[in-house]
Amino acid sequence: MTTNKRRLLVTICAASLIAIAVGCTASDKSIKNSSAANINAEARILSVLEDMSRDRKYAMWNITQEEGSLLRILTAATGAKHVVEIGTSNGYSTILFCLALRTTGGKMTTHEIDPYRISMASENFKKAGISHLVTIVEGDAHEKVTRLKEPIDILYIDADKAGYFDYFTKLLPLVRPGGLILAHNTTDLASEMQDYLKAITNNPELETIFLLKQPSGLSVTLKKRR
Ligand SMILES: C[S@@+](CC[C@H](N)C(=O)[O-])C[C@H]1O[C@@H](n2cnc3c(N)ncnc32)[C@H](O)[C@@H]1O
Repeated sequence: MTTNKRRLLVTICAASLIAIAVGCTASDKSIKNSSAANINAEARILSVLEDMSRDRKYAMWNITQEEGSLLRILTAATGAKHVVEIGTSNGYSTILFCLALRTTGGKMTTHEIDPYRISMASENFKKAGISHLVTIVEGDAHEKVTRLKEPIDILYIDADKAGYFDYFTKLLPLVRPGGLILAHNTTDLASEMQDYLKAITNNPELETIFLLKQPSGLSVTLKKRR
């Protein structure tokens, strides 16, 4: 091999090594940047939730942090793509679902009848940076849910207690096999939803467990796969 050829070969090898090193550094950087962006996005959401917990001036009837954590875990663990909520209030539980939905690539449809609560919720969604994940349906959910067409991965019921059975009956066909139906206040307000409790415990196509029984209670019902 001539000296010139040897020099050329050495130059090409050195250039390749530099290119690999630069490439690694660039991809390391982009991984670091995207995980930093994720941490920032989550921190922003958590700080809005903290503000909402601290600032409970009005009767918003929000779930507790522990209950919210359960909603988040179930959503993330099932990889839910579509969560339907009945009873948004100021959006506390919706935001907890969204903490998981932003990682599953999912979205949320939430129903609320009270315009004042809707305006508070949409303000909170903006602050948390999750408005793009949420569709708020305004009006009486008993009527509005009949317009839903898309399959549901998680149905969460937390509105008028006597209406749970009606929401459940109307939406069960849309819950996909393997999907979940969650309901709040299954301990403290059980007397107002006896028909619902019978329906989720007597139907052989469903499997139900009652969790976080004190003080409010949250039922978790699986629509079994066939
Ligand atoms: C217990 S709060 C929901 C709390 C919320 N899930 C949270 O934890 O942040 C119940 C909400 O359901 C709403 N609601 C009651 N009846 C309704 C109906 N028929 N249609 C839609 N929303 C209703 C109420 O206005 C109230 O804001």
